[in-house]
Amino acid sequence: MDNTQIREGLEGVVAATTRLSSVDGEAGVLLLAGFPVEEIAPRASFEEMTWLLWNGSLPTAGELEAFRHRLAGRRSLPAAALELLREAARRRVPAMDALRMAAGALSLAEGAGEDPKEDALLLTATFPTIVASYWRLLRGEEPLRPREDLGHAANFLFLLSGEEPSPERARGLETYLNTVTDHGLNASTFTARVIVSTRSDLISAITGAVGALKGPLHGGAPGPALDMVFEIGTPERAEAVLREKLDRGERLMGFGHRVYRVRDPRADVLAAAAERFYSLGGDRGLYELARSVEATALRLLRERKPDRRLDTNVEFYTALLLHGLGMPTGLFTPTFAVGRVAGWTAHALEQLATGRLIRPQSVYVGERGRRWVPVEERTGAQVCAITDANA
Ligand code: ACO
Repeated sequence: MDNTQIREGLEGVVAATTRLSSVDGEAGVLLLAGFPVEEIAPRASFEEMTWLLWNGSLPTAGELEAFRHRLAGRRSLPAAALELLREAARRRVPAMDALRMAAGALSLAEGAGEDPKEDALLLTATFPTIVASYWRLLRGEEPLRPREDLGHAANFLFLLSGEEPSPERARGLETYLNTVTDHGLNASTFTARVIVSTRSDLISAITGAVGALKGPLHGGAPGPALDMVFEIGTPERAEAVLREKLDRGERLMGFGHRVYRVRDPRADVLAAAAERFYSLGGDRGLYELARSVEATALRLLRERKPDRRLDTNVEFYTALLLHGLGMPTGLFTPTFAVGRVAGWTAHALEQLATGRLIRPQSVYVGERGRRWVPVEERTGAQVCAITDANA
């Protein structure tokens, strides 16, 4: 293969067809199963959104009722997964690591691994239980039993705090979960598709996807984005603090995207949800501060990188909305996974139904023709000599 064909980071490479979502990075349009994100995310329940992704159309009232019931009935964790979370909490591992380990332990649930669609249901139903149980254990509290009478988002908030949330809080979280539920062939979704492309199982695929989501260049950004807003503290300090960061070569968290060359449409949906929520009595000052930090960041990024359009991404307003909902920073990325698991499982099912083994190639740039040297004869000089001989 000749080097000119290499696309580092697979940028611009099309590796699958999908009916799940369409990301137009130039126009700033995201379609979720045909619906613009701003049309569906603030209106659908998470159950409707998940059904839509898994089945291609919105459920009827009867289908929705039955689906709610089935999903709610699978919220409990296998005992071994809970034990694992207890041990993880004793060692205070990061929440995303705990989620990855407990996701893998779902193979111990009754009937796991037998039917991919049932695994999709199990994974989606249990993610809120895993995240909330772990958070309580970290704080020295006992995990709560899931409530089957509550919707998916309301139950998650209940499992965290023990209090039944107001409809506004449940709606705020639901809008967030729907907004992030799917987004083309992002790194974690690609990971899930690669894993099932080998005809592996959904629990393996989603466990791998959690690992991919954890990194700060993907789902790990909202915590640092909020820290940045807090560090700035007042609008007047924004310019000086952000300039310093850019001078040090740091990236501004919550800005830039591999695909979007304009504002991420999800940022608008979440900004509107955050504004609604904060005007109902939250910390309005924080919302105003974030808007002013955003404006300054965009101005400075345009000044520094005139050739690369860097705009606000989903993570910036994720941070603000989830903070408003009372979520601690450590839960931002796991909560992203609670929403994205519906998209990951939908992609995994689609890949199983239509996809081929995903197996790209690499170009070898290492040495050639090396000769074996017995261990007792090896010296640093010899290694260099071999390297030189092959240079
Ligand atoms: N702040 C400052 N500079 C930036 C930023 C940023 N947020 N994003 C990109 N740049 C600069 C890079 O330093 C690079 O400059 P250079 O050409 O002088 O080296 C140039 O813009 C291009 O950057 P790339 O890394 O090539 O862009 P890529 O498409 O690989 O990166 C990414 C996209 C990882 C999201 C990047 O914009 C970033 O690191 N943003 C901050 C982290 C973040 O917000 N992540 C969440 C993404 S949304 C999601 O995954 C759900």
